[in-house]
Amino acid sequence: MSSALRGNYTLNNGDTLTLVQVTDAHLMGVRGGRLLNVDTDDSLAAVLELVEARPEPPDALLITGDIAGDGAGDAYQRFAQALEAIPAPSFWLPGNHDDCDESVVDRERFIRTVTNPHWLVVMLDSQQTDEVGGYLAANELDALSQAVDRANQEGKHLLVALHHPLQPVGCDWLDPQRVANSSAFELEVQRCRNQVVVIAGHVHQESDQVSGNIRYLTTPSTCIQFAPNQVNFKVGDQAPGYRWLRLAPSGEIETGVERVTDREFPVDLDSGGYL
Ligand SMILES: [Fe+2]
Repeated sequence: MSSALRGNYTLNNGDTLTLVQVTDAHLMGVRGGRLLNVDTDDSLAAVLELVEARPEPPDALLITGDIAGDGAGDAYQRFAQALEAIPAPSFWLPGNHDDCDESVVDRERFIRTVTNPHWLVVMLDSQQTDEVGGYLAANELDALSQAVDRANQEGKHLLVALHHPLQPVGCDWLDPQRVANSSAFELEVQRCRNQVVVIAGHVHQESDQVSGNIRYLTTPSTCIQFAPNQVNFKVGDQAPGYRWLRLAPSGEIETGVERVTDREFPVDLDSGGYL
């Protein structure tokens, strides 16, 4: 891969910003493909119906990686199609399962920063070739550093979006896959003079923790879930979902997770793992 995130997109909303995070869709090579028995096109559609049913459309969607499972086929085109019903721009970054350069994904998806008058969103690529775990290469840390400088200069709050989490979530088998150089990340974001919130995917479960004045959030997958607090790989029975965030001009953050409740997606709970 590489996604080569670049450029800025300005959101016109100068008031509270509503963002939706959609993550880990794992669309298979062909429509209707299954991951541990879940049709991942179908579960994504159910989650996006929930987003569509929100009383007001979000200002933007942030797609935090693992859009495709391995062997993408037309997964990226199907993902773009699935998003068409939602009248908001969507910005994508890659996860460890992705291989989505500009030959398969529209250039305007890979935006580095998204701004409104009060918030700056920076999208980071934590993917490493042929590795499951995350790492921020020098150019990604540079982009983060520039985003922090700009947020400070412009008096903005900062939201960082990336695939791999920075903090352990309590699963021994997953936690070593978090960003390996998280201390370099922390050194940068600690320079921020305003609010900082970090959203990640990869762990297929929700978490919300604060460390050193930085809020770290993870979000359910739109397909299978990983059971929380496990030593070894274990799939959970929670429903697919997404996260919403309301980011106020003051820096106040409201956030929550919504899950599909009107349909069931039975998962193969006895699975010993997947790649
Ligand atoms: Fe992942």
